[in-house]
Amino acid sequence: MEQIVINGVNQLSGEVEIEGAKNAVLPILASTILASSGITTLDNVPPLSDVFIMNKVLEEFNIKIEFNQVQKTISVDASGELTSIAPKELVEKMRASIVVLGPLVARLGHAKVAMPGGCAIGSRPIDLHLKGLEKLGVKIDQHDGFIEATADQLHGADIYLDFPSVGATQNIMMAATLAKGNTVIENVAREPEIVDLANVLNKMGAKITGAGTDSLKIKGVDQLHGCDHSVVQDRIEAGTYMIAAAVSNGNVLIKDAIYEHNRPLLSKLAEMGVKVNVSDDGVRIIGPKVLAPADVQTLPHPGFPTDMQAQMTVAQLKADGISTMNETVFENRFMHLDELNKMGASYKVEGNFATLMGPTDFQGAEVSATDLRAAAALVIAGLIAKGETRVSHLEYMDRGYYHLVSKFKQLGANIKRVRIDAAGRETLVTDDQVISEESLA
Ligand code: EPZ
Repeated sequence: MEQIVINGVNQLSGEVEIEGAKNAVLPILASTILASSGITTLDNVPPLSDVFIMNKVLEEFNIKIEFNQVQKTISVDASGELTSIAPKELVEKMRASIVVLGPLVARLGHAKVAMPGGCAIGSRPIDLHLKGLEKLGVKIDQHDGFIEATADQLHGADIYLDFPSVGATQNIMMAATLAKGNTVIENVAREPEIVDLANVLNKMGAKITGAGTDSLKIKGVDQLHGCDHSVVQDRIEAGTYMIAAAVSNGNVLIKDAIYEHNRPLLSKLAEMGVKVNVSDDGVRIIGPKVLAPADVQTLPHPGFPTDMQAQMTVAQLKADGISTMNETVFENRFMHLDELNKMGASYKVEGNFATLMGPTDFQGAEVSATDLRAAAALVIAGLIAKGETRVSHLEYMDRGYYHLVSKFKQLGANIKRVRIDAAGRETLVTDDQVISEESLA
C-alpha cells in the first residue's frame, strides 16, 4: 500500500510547472484513429496512468505507439489495417476510452467497445453519445456488456445535445469529420480541451468551425492524415496548485498558466481575498492570512469547473465564515467531505448542495481518496493541517497528477510518498518510480 505523508503546517512559495492536459490528450489520442495516412506526433504529453491505458487501447487496434516519457512526446501511426474491438478489461480501467467509439466507426464502419462503468462520482451514462452517433447514421446494438456500432456511410446531421456533455461532444465531433455532408451540433461542451481537440482535427484535414462556442459546424471530408500538435496546458492541474497557494498563505507562480482557462476559479479566489497577478510568465497567487467565504456553483465551461469543486471546498472550509457549494454536474461528488471531516471540517450536505462551516483548524489524519480530484483536495488539506496527514488510494491521484509530491516539495512542503509492506515497514517511493511501474502495468 502506498501513502502520501504530509506534515503541516506548510506555506508554499516558489514556482511550479504545469503539464499538458489529461482531459485533452485522451480524446486527442483517440482522434489519431481517424488518420489513415501519416504519423501524429504529440508533445507536452503527461506520463499519467490514464495515458498509458489509452495507449494500450489504441495498440489493441493495431495502432503503433511510441511514448518517450522523458521528452513527454508520443508518436502514433494509425495508417495500417486497424481492428475495431476495445476490450472490457481496458475500458473498465478507464471509462474515458469510450471516445474511441466515434472515430473507430467513422474510419472502419464498425466498432465494438465495452460499456464503460460508472464511477464513484456518478453513473456516467453515455446516452447522448449514442443518440448523436445514431443521428449520423450509426446503428447501435448493446449486448454482452458491449456497444456494437456499425455504419455503411456516416452522413451529416443536425444534432442538439440535451446537456453539453464533454465526452458526447468529442465522440460526435470526431465521427462527423468523416461523414458525407455537413453536421451542426448545438448545445455542445465549450471546454478548452474541446478547442484543443478541434485544433488537432483541423490539422489532420478536418473542417470544423465554432469550437469553444455552443455550436459546432463540421464539413465532412474523405480522409484525415497525421499531424504535429502540442497539448494544451492542464487548467485543472494549474487550478489545483492555485488553490494550494491560496489556502497556505502562499506566494506561488503557476508558470505559463492561461488566465482565460481559469477565469471562474480566479474570480472566486479574488472574491475570497486572494491576490491574482497575471503576467507573461503565468499567474502568481498570493494567499491572504484570512480567506473570506464564498458561494460557488459548478457548471459546464465557462462556468466554475466541477473538476475544481473538491479542491475549492478546502478553501471554503478554511475561510472565515459560511460558504456554499452547489455541484450541478455530477450526482455524487461530495465524498471528499467525509474524509475532510476526519481533519476537523464541519459541513452539511443536502443533495447537490453543501454548506461549509469555516473557519476550520485542520488537524492531520489518515484519509483515503475516493476519486482523482478528491485525492488532490485531501493533499491540499494535509498541507495546511497541524500534524501528520496520510492520504491513501493514490491510484486515483496517479491518473491525473504528474510528479505531485516533487512539485509540492519544490514549493517548500514537508511531503513524501511511502510504500508500506505487510510488516508495516515504510520505504520512500519517488515519483519516477511510480511512473515507471505504471507504464509497465
Ligand atoms: C469529462 O468527463 C472529464 N473527463 C471529467 O473529468 C469532467 O469532470 C467532465 O468532463 C465534466 O467537465 C475527461 O475528459 C476524460 P460529461 P465526461 O459527459 O465527458 C451527464 C476528471 O476529474 N451525461 O460532460 O464523462 C453525466 O452523467 C474527470 O478529470 C449524460 O447524462 O463528462 C454527467 O452528469 C472527472 N449522458 C454530466 O453529463 C451522456 O451521454 C457531465 O458529463 C453523457 C454525460
